[in-house]
Amino acid sequence: MRPIFITATNTNIGKTYATLKLIDNLSQMGFRVGVFKPIETGVEDKPVDATLLLERVQRYNPKFKNLTPFDITAYTFKLPSAPFCANSNISITKLIDKYNELSSLCDILLIEGAGGLLVPIKTDYFMIDLAKELNSKLLLVTSSRLGTINDTLLSMEALKSRGIDFEWAINLYQDINSFDSVTKPFFDTKFNKYLSLEQDIKQIIKLLIK
Ligand code: GTP
Ligand code: MG
Repeated sequence: MRPIFITATNTNIGKTYATLKLIDNLSQMGFRVGVFKPIETGVEDKPVDATLLLERVQRYNPKFKNLTPFDITAYTFKLPSAPFCANSNISITKLIDKYNELSSLCDILLIEGAGGLLVPIKTDYFMIDLAKELNSKLLLVTSSRLGTINDTLLSMEALKSRGIDFEWAINLYQDINSFDSVTKPFFDTKFNKYLSLEQDIKQIIKLLIK
């Protein structure tokens, strides 16, 4: 099956939160799920996202039992920054090798990006390029906070301009009390329907694996 690349309109929007939900739901549907965090920055002694993701996958997929959080990343860096700023010499081949290794341990590999789509890995190679190179189906997580209309539309433009097949879902969490008046009217008018991670996870999965 095609991998699912989980990205967001920015850092701290809910990629890990969404990926954990996907792990639970896909596993309960009978898929052998794997997880890959290609690059994690801001790592002091252990990668926080990779640890959370791996521990969740280990509940369901014995092939991930003996791995450590470092085994499900290709790179970890101490500096909490875009990957390129933490290390200007990242090898794309190394990312792809790790992808191939982890793919062989599961039916469906979930890949959590770092930050948003135009986060640089190399001077002219961004997270969005990695998602495309891995031929993934992409989930764009957007937030409910003020500013999300602009961020969501910009990310969609970038995805459409590169011909990337994507679904999107809102993490209804930040600014939740003002969402109905501040943001929802536009989304209601612009999009026939939009999905939320909290209420529509089953439907999101259906779209992602179809
Ligand atoms: P980075 O990987 O650091 O770029 O962030 P991310 O996009 O993976 O965001 P993450 O899933 O870590 O969520 C960001 C923060 O918001 C975390 O501290 C989560 O605990 C919190 N959070 C996100 N969504 C929810 C939610 O729906 N409910 C609650 N209670 N907390 C949430
Ligand atoms: Mg995360």
